Amino acid sequence: MIEDWPPLPECIQTARCLLRPFSTADADDVFAYRRDAEVLRNMQVALPFRREDADVFVATQVLSDWHERCVWAMEQDGRVVGGVSLRIARGKRRAEVGYELARWLWGGGLMTEAVSAVIDEAFRRLPIIKITATATAANVRSIRLLKKLGMQREALLRQHWVHGGRVLDEVRYGLLRDEWQPHAAARFEQ
Ligand SMILES: CC(C)(COP(=O)(O)OP(=O)(O)OC[C@H]1O[C@@H](n2cnc3c(N)ncnc32)[C@H](O)[C@@H]1OP(=O)(O)O)[C@@H](O)C(=O)NCCC(=O)NCCS
Repeated sequence: MIEDWPPLPECIQTARCLLRPFSTADADDVFAYRRDAEVLRNMQVALPFRREDADVFVATQVLSDWHERCVWAMEQDGRVVGGVSLRIARGKRRAEVGYELARWLWGGGLMTEAVSAVIDEAFRRLPIIKITATATAANVRSIRLLKKLGMQREALLRQHWVHGGRVLDEVRYGLLRDEWQPHAAARFEQ
């Protein structure tokens, strides 16, 4: 039965980081990377991001219902440097992944590693058939990451967002269960 879906693990250890639930004590760490407008440039988050916004952000993550939306803080060297979320639509047997990373760590493949681990857990433990992701068309890093994960572009929504005075197109990506195993196997064999 759909209601019997098991919860995803609260902690996932990858080679370089620990994914674990947010705590209210993480607000300073979150502020340290979210105060950088470049991190929020392609996300629907009001700017500027203030210290009190970090308190609200972590409180929201802490209160999130784990059965509906899993959200992991990404911890490296005892510090939160980002987050990965997975919103689960049980009725549709689908999940939507989201992520953010401190700018000083961009380009090192850390988020590819973290999101891969989450996708792996989701496909292994839940009877979902598809994982989706959205990005602004301008978010080249995020799109590159989605392609590296084997995601296929499925839609372009033109002039779909207005953010920070910019009108942005949105792209939607999807990864089917059947596509993940061969893709993951090929990647790990390299
Ligand atoms: C999206 C995000 C998590 C990516 O993190 P990252 O550490 O750069 O990710 P990775 O290093 O795993 O992969 C990024 C890829 O983009 C590539 N890239 C970087 N700049 C690029 C550019 N201008 N054009 C094309 N590709 C680019 C990198 O080379 C890398 O690919 P490679 O491993 O093949 O070399 C990070 O940029 C981020 O947190 N951004 C802000 C929040 C955000 O936008 N979240 C997503 C909302 S949809």
